[in-house]
Amino acid sequence: MCGIIAYKGPKDAIEIVLKGLQQLEYRGYDSWGIGVKTQAGLDVFKKTGQIGKVNRSDIHLPESTIAIGHTRWATHGGVTETNAHPHQSPNKDIVVVHNGIVENFEELALHLSTPRVSETDTEIIAHLISQNMQQGFAHAVRETAKKLQGKSGFVAINKDTDEIAAVRSGSPLIVGIGENEYFIASDVTAFLQHTKKVMYLDNNEMVVINDAPHFYDADGKEVQKRIVDIDWEAGTSEKGDHAHYLIKEIMDQKHTIMAATNQDEEKLKRVADEIRNAYGTFLVGCGTAGKVCQTSEYFFSSIAHKHINAVVGSEFSNYHHYLTDKTLMIPVSQSGETMDVLDAMEIAKKKGVKIISLINVVGSTMMRESDDYFNVNAGVEKAVVSTKATTAQLSVLYLLAHAVAGTLQEGKSQLMNTASAVTDMLNPRYDARIRDLAQLLKGREDVIIIGRGANYPIALEAAIKLMEASYVHAQGFAGGELKHGPIALIEPGTPVIVLVNNDENKEATISNAKEVQSRGGVIIGVAPENNPAFSHWIKVPDVGDAAPIVNIIPMQMLAYHLAVLRGIDPDKPRNLAKSVTVK
Ligand code: F6R
Repeated sequence: MCGIIAYKGPKDAIEIVLKGLQQLEYRGYDSWGIGVKTQAGLDVFKKTGQIGKVNRSDIHLPESTIAIGHTRWATHGGVTETNAHPHQSPNKDIVVVHNGIVENFEELALHLSTPRVSETDTEIIAHLISQNMQQGFAHAVRETAKKLQGKSGFVAINKDTDEIAAVRSGSPLIVGIGENEYFIASDVTAFLQHTKKVMYLDNNEMVVINDAPHFYDADGKEVQKRIVDIDWEAGTSEKGDHAHYLIKEIMDQKHTIMAATNQDEEKLKRVADEIRNAYGTFLVGCGTAGKVCQTSEYFFSSIAHKHINAVVGSEFSNYHHYLTDKTLMIPVSQSGETMDVLDAMEIAKKKGVKIISLINVVGSTMMRESDDYFNVNAGVEKAVVSTKATTAQLSVLYLLAHAVAGTLQEGKSQLMNTASAVTDMLNPRYDARIRDLAQLLKGREDVIIIGRGANYPIALEAAIKLMEASYVHAQGFAGGELKHGPIALIEPGTPVIVLVNNDENKEATISNAKEVQSRGGVIIGVAPENNPAFSHWIKVPDVGDAAPIVNIIPMQMLAYHLAVLRGIDPDKPRNLAKSVTVK
């Protein structure tokens, strides 16, 4: 949450920071700001609202070669220009941008010589650095960082030197190395168009960029770092001819399922052995990634007859009693920065648990904190609403379930069939069909989604898609649970989406659909074949036990079209951010 970018180099720093913030906007989009260092001192420019369409000429700041910027997802203090970052010290000798939370800011504020002007926790950082400048900027930044509690990361500039300093204490910051130019950002996408060479700042480390970046540990001892090449293409993060990132990324699934299939078979077999031998394996994720974990619990059960525990990241601490050094943890995360999952990993590590994660962002904290990892290869996912990363995660876990069952080749060929079936499915006629259904649902405030087996967590995931993209209240249920309460919600016209495949759950799911139909509900069936119980049918290819991977795709499309028809920006749903780096 919140995006940070800093630049030092020969080019127009404001232009570079502006473009970087536009790339980072998915991390928060309620306000933004840029701070610069010029011959005359420090200056800042801040605005509420999204930075998306702002031009360089809209930013009234003097030319500079040193700038820092921030796009905000509010935690402390409302969405106002005053609360937007950067924040300044009272005498304007320090400017700071920050991601995360300073938990003890109220206590620290009691000792300030000048009251804060904003309601933020961040402003305190600028005050403290300014108060500690006697031994220089870097020293003041380090001493300030020591006083802060909670997980965060900040970048600061000062009036007297041409240095940029940054401290990472739990929130990601990555240093980009260009030709005589340097970047610091929350995420590589902010500077990917300028350089693919990065140096990672680890927790409790500080970097000071003057002639070059210098890294220090918490005691101020200089540490050596390697330059790492990131193999992400900037182009994959552009939306091209599509109206929104969300639909572009849905359509990317024509390729990304195949890309996810491309895993090291030896590693899959090795990890399958780890799962077989572990005294308990935990799949851990949040939100959509959590639903991927739940779906995969069914994959492991039906394909490999192996019980795996799926746990929501924020609930994992309640399972610590079961953890030993023979436990295996598989965190699943697109961003690799979700705080609740990183916290769960910290708990697991303390018990000696082995961690093999599924990541999509190369170089993310999760990747670097794991013993080993699988890259799901979905490429840059920018829309806040996760789509292609979801099916890529499902694909890798599907392969892993087959590897545990000893049927890896069978799983791989089934997944390849699934990938080509998805490529066929995602054609303009199919898209138009889903748009028509969205038209039908446009005015509804409630949608119910049901499924059995692996389609149950897919129903839950479909509900997340509809709610976050289109603000329609949607709720997923296990088909069999309807009669235990939710069926009371059905009245004539209530839309109920029924996910059904040609498997052992088919008959029971169709029975549930008929129960709804006989109470006036309008059934939208998502299935390989039509059925008299359906008022509307969304056809999906029959891909056997890989069905959850295809079934979620028309639901993603429905969420997209509903958002557009309801006049909502599908790329930036209210109150959300893509990387959830706070608790
Ligand atoms: C929903 C969505 C979120 C994320 C969740 C975890 O579309 O994107 O629910 O799935 O915040 O994010 P990652 O996967 O980055 O850990």
